[in-house]
Amino acid sequence: MTGVATDCSVRSLLKQGIGQLREANVPSFTLAGELLLLHVAARDRTWLYAHPEEIFSAETTAQYFALVQRRANGEPTQHLTGKQEFWGLEFEVTPDVLIPRPETEHLIEVALDRLALRELRAGRSPRLTGNGITLVDVGTGSGCIAIALAKELPDATVYATDISLDALNVARRNASRLGISERIQCLESDLLEGFSPLATRHSPLSFDLIVCNPPYVGQRDAESLPREVREHEPEIALNGGEEGYEFYAELIAQSHEFLKPGGLLVLELGYNSLPAVQPLLDPSHWTDAGVTNDLAGIPRVLAAERFAPR
Ligand SMILES: C[S@@+](CC[C@H](N)C(=O)[O-])C[C@H]1O[C@@H](n2cnc3c(N)ncnc32)[C@H](O)[C@@H]1O
Repeated sequence: MTGVATDCSVRSLLKQGIGQLREANVPSFTLAGELLLLHVAARDRTWLYAHPEEIFSAETTAQYFALVQRRANGEPTQHLTGKQEFWGLEFEVTPDVLIPRPETEHLIEVALDRLALRELRAGRSPRLTGNGITLVDVGTGSGCIAIALAKELPDATVYATDISLDALNVARRNASRLGISERIQCLESDLLEGFSPLATRHSPLSFDLIVCNPPYVGQRDAESLPREVREHEPEIALNGGEEGYEFYAELIAQSHEFLKPGGLLVLELGYNSLPAVQPLLDPSHWTDAGVTNDLAGIPRVLAAERFAPR
């Protein structure tokens, strides 16, 4: 019978919860069952397997099975626990932001590698502090990319933009709970347009690094998205237009305008975006284009440098 436990030990609740999630065909049902149990118990994973005999109160047991039921009905685990780990940091997530994905960590790696290479080429130490670097994360959502980069580059000046004010509020809260709100300036903006009024003729605002994980799901693919994504993640974070790559042309054009000569652009790609996006990097404007695959072998990150006449 759903949600009724006679034995309220951790071991038994976990077994029943996981069983219900498996029956509902929830992906990664064991992990989901564990995370929900840890959430209601307010404990960490080590505790879970060290205390299999601990007895939950009737109230905590009821809370656990209520969450299991909601997960079985399609709500993402992260919306139920309110958090997701990314780059070793814990981020608050709400239905207003995309849940940070592991493949986006490749974008951070590529950005840091490219910055280190730039230092080496300039005859400096590749050990990065971010000193003298100004960067922007376009479409920041939860703030995961901007915050991870700000943590890695403690001396960098970091901007984060989003067209969604609700998303920016989540990003601001994440920056605050991760102790770096002073270091990130969040700006409501359609791509990079919000920076135009900030730049003056005497003090143009230009970046050393622009990173972006844009919405890249096409109309056709939208219907085949898992229910968790289709019904619960924000349309504005997913919908990349008819084909899914409609953001890139404008983003690349604006990035060219806002990058310093030799500045870096690092973009996350949808699983089939590369053939449409790579040709947008006009060789008279961009150099050193490179593609990085994710762990599934999908071309996931496209990086290039704004052409700098030597
Ligand atoms: C795929 S999500 C990426 C979120 C986050 N950067 C990440 O990697 O998890 C795309 C983000 O772009 C934002 N967005 C959509 N259209 C935008 C636009 N025209 N200008 C700025 N941001 C936009 C969405 O609100 C969403 O937060």
